[in-house]
Amino acid sequence: MTASTLSVAIVTGGNSGIGLETVKLLATDHQVYAIGRNPQTLQALEKVANVIPVALDITDYAAVAAFTASLARVDVLVHSAAISVLSTTYSATPELWQQHLSINVIAPAELTRLALPALRASQGKVVFINSGSGTLALAGHVVYSASKFALTALAHALRTEESEHGVRVATIAPGPTDTPMNQASRQRAGNHAPINPREYLEASSVARAVRFIVDSLEDTQIADIVIRPRRDKARR
Ligand SMILES: NC(=O)c1ccc[n+]([C@@H]2O[C@H](COP(=O)([O-])OP(=O)(O)OC[C@H]3O[C@@H](n4cnc5c(N)ncnc54)[C@H](OP(=O)(O)O)[C@@H]3O)[C@@H](O)[C@H]2O)c1
Repeated sequence: MTASTLSVAIVTGGNSGIGLETVKLLATDHQVYAIGRNPQTLQALEKVANVIPVALDITDYAAVAAFTASLARVDVLVHSAAISVLSTTYSATPELWQQHLSINVIAPAELTRLALPALRASQGKVVFINSGSGTLALAGHVVYSASKFALTALAHALRTEESEHGVRVATIAPGPTDTPMNQASRQRAGNHAPINPREYLEASSVARAVRFIVDSLEDTQIADIVIRPRRDKARR
């Protein structure tokens, strides 16, 4: 298939971690717009067949609107971009709250809103990469968890709203996954010990769940997928 006849996917956070692995899996048979900010990691994607790296801050709504307006079609929209800074209610500042809610909730809501006409036209799919923190808030994760709880609400409401328009909406809630986000959290917490791989998912394993949703048959609405490492320290 030539690039112009391929289905089109947008992946936010497409230059790192789970989003990057998702981009690679979808690019086998989609034209994939991989959104991120880091110029180095975006540049590395220029060599990958069927991938178009897009330098975009997803909280720049005018730029996001210009980007979506430039697309002739959208079949799949994967929201993987997020930030996560550990904080208690006592330590969290209004700026930290605003940053998390802007990037983790409002930006995916706005990108979805702008892409909905194209997604309705293609009878497409929206996939939210959420977290175990989207349904269970742990001490010291309050701001991130609150943003992910809000994302849970967004996905549930959107699925109901869009069912009559033929757009399917899924959430994936991974447990701890070995990515730059998780590595940075462990460093900030002073944990420099090597990880036990059985206590962490590979980013590519989460990407396979996205692929499963994208490949789901016409009669199927996959709503929620929860993925845990084989040995999940927090929940066993
Ligand atoms: N890792 C885990 O343990 C874990 C567990 C459960 C759920 N999750 C969820 O999985 C998803 C992916 O996380 P990850 O672990 O793969 O993290 P990651 O490697 O740190 O990737 C985060 C991505 O978000 C992008 N991003 C952040 N702010 C942005 C902004 N304002 N505009 C555009 N892009 C922005 C980053 O782009 P730049 O690098 O260019 O800034 C990066 O590509 C997130 O939704 C996260 O909450 C992760």
